[in-house]
Amino acid sequence: MSTAEFIRQHPRSHRCNDLTKAELGRQVVLYGWVHGLRDHGGRRFVDLRDRDGLTQIVFKPEVDRELHEQAQKLRSEWVIGVAGAVQDRIANGGSPNPKLRSGEIEVEAQALEIFNQADTPPFLIEDNIDTAEEKRLQYRYLDLRRPAVARRFLVRHRVNQVVRRYFDDNGFLEIETPFMVKYTPGGARNFLVPSRLNPGCFYALAESPQIFKQLFMMAGFDRYFQIVRCFRDEDLRLDRQPEFTQIDVEMSFINEEEIQGAIEGLLAALWREILGVELARPFVRLAYDDAMTRYGSDKPDLRFDLELCDLTDEVRQHGGGGVALLEDVAKGEGVCKCLRLPAAYALSRTEADKLEGFVRGMGAHGLARVKVDKGGAWTQTQMAKSISEALRLAINRKAGAQDGDFLFFQFGEPKLAAMVLGRLRLHFGEKYHLIKPGDWRFAWIVDFPLFERDEKGQWVAAHHAFTSPRPDHVDKLKSAPQDCRARAYDIVLNGVELGGGSIRIHDTAVQAKVFDALGISGEQAEAKFGFLLRALRFGAPPHGGIALGMDRLVMLLTDAESLRDVVAFPKTQKGTCLMTDAPTRIGDELLTDLFIRSAAPH
Ligand code: AMO
Repeated sequence: MSTAEFIRQHPRSHRCNDLTKAELGRQVVLYGWVHGLRDHGGRRFVDLRDRDGLTQIVFKPEVDRELHEQAQKLRSEWVIGVAGAVQDRIANGGSPNPKLRSGEIEVEAQALEIFNQADTPPFLIEDNIDTAEEKRLQYRYLDLRRPAVARRFLVRHRVNQVVRRYFDDNGFLEIETPFMVKYTPGGARNFLVPSRLNPGCFYALAESPQIFKQLFMMAGFDRYFQIVRCFRDEDLRLDRQPEFTQIDVEMSFINEEEIQGAIEGLLAALWREILGVELARPFVRLAYDDAMTRYGSDKPDLRFDLELCDLTDEVRQHGGGGVALLEDVAKGEGVCKCLRLPAAYALSRTEADKLEGFVRGMGAHGLARVKVDKGGAWTQTQMAKSISEALRLAINRKAGAQDGDFLFFQFGEPKLAAMVLGRLRLHFGEKYHLIKPGDWRFAWIVDFPLFERDEKGQWVAAHHAFTSPRPDHVDKLKSAPQDCRARAYDIVLNGVELGGGSIRIHDTAVQAKVFDALGISGEQAEAKFGFLLRALRFGAPPHGGIALGMDRLVMLLTDAESLRDVVAFPKTQKGTCLMTDAPTRIGDELLTDLFIRSAAPH
């Protein structure tokens, strides 16, 4: 029978995860891939797999000798269609498979069609394999057949549907924005697209729809969302892809609370529908300064304690306590922070020594350490000799140090000190298994600084240049930029930055002041963002928004380790696609058409 004829005569009736004892006796047709093959008691058993699951097919020689013989030819990953009857596996003398929904039934084959044969796959299509990721990415379509991998994409699909339904129910319009946009320096590094029709000109691939979604508010669309691809030419990490997806949102006539409430509602709907978990709301709010002081991170993992302790005041009050290392802090330069590891968490001296290398890898100069002894004495440290008793006791008191505890110190630049101890905290969280599975700790980080310094020491926007300062800080934009706070917020889950947003500036005068504070002249602002500034003058409503990282969201929902696990065709850390070999060199002829000459070494 031809393939077309078989499909016409036997249209698929079920998928491989559908059948249970409720269908006993039914005539069914299944299509899929040969997952496993076994011969037992003269019968041929085939595990048939599709994207939803597995069903056991049995070929009995006593029912159809020819069909049984045909089934002997089957090999792994061949694509077949089977028609037959649903039977009770146990009544047939088999044993149930409690791991499968279809584990109590089997289909007795009455017709078989081989749609296609398959080469031997380069790795097993099974969940627990130790094949190198490179190989799996090279044959990604085979990797995607593996049930645990496929399941992540079924979740991703569900997330898309929940998001769309939620926003539609709440009056948001889904409207696309352009990918090929005007290049504006600053922000993430952009990918460029040459314009053949405009020699020497380039588009940028949009790093986010930021400006366009603000223009939607000026157009009066009021509430917008989009599940949108964004492109950034950044250094890649486990939680970064060069093209990634945002759930992008903008709303008019709102304050921070409405946006945060809308996102909490969305996340609650997702957790309910995907995981069956009811999230407690409202989520915790944590000021940026508190997060940095207590956890050394603006995306703190709140699933365990081990908070950092700031000792700067103590060190200053005691003039450095005679410790050379603390002199600068005592003089007012930098900070002194510590992380206390309680005695209950065993750490050998060798392990403690190794931590030195761990922190140097992050750019720290070293890791001063103290072991607290009986009566609060310090051991395992040079500082024990020089430190004044008063400062030692003050530090013990502030850190809550007990007999047998370790104290790990960082002195100097506040951001580096916080980052190093923050990462050490995460290291201990993992080492001592302080994280319970299924614990979801959401938090809004609020009160972000409006500006931060770039590598050259210049003030740049910490979020982006359209983020509104707090109204009471507008007067200090120029005089005390370091003290200005933004109406910006991040949503953090279990130590991952899920999303970020802000209330935007809708007043041209304030926007001009922010540009001025950033050292962007009126002319430069006009050249870069003239269209936005013009739009602000035509009646801009108060508005704000947020974008959630969709890939990160799915990564957390599916307990994946990397974004590569939840992106169908991901890029490697070097930004390459191992399956298609992109990016590739382009010949001179094509480049000439685009008015480009390559300067890459041959
Ligand atoms: P932001 O740049 O903070 O904000 O991005 C929002 C969220 O997008 C995700 N994300 C990424 N995910 C994967 N790979 C990447 N390379 C990557 N970069 C960012 C993160 C992040 O929290 N327009 C503003 C939002 C706004 O103000 O409304 C923006 O893009 O989860």
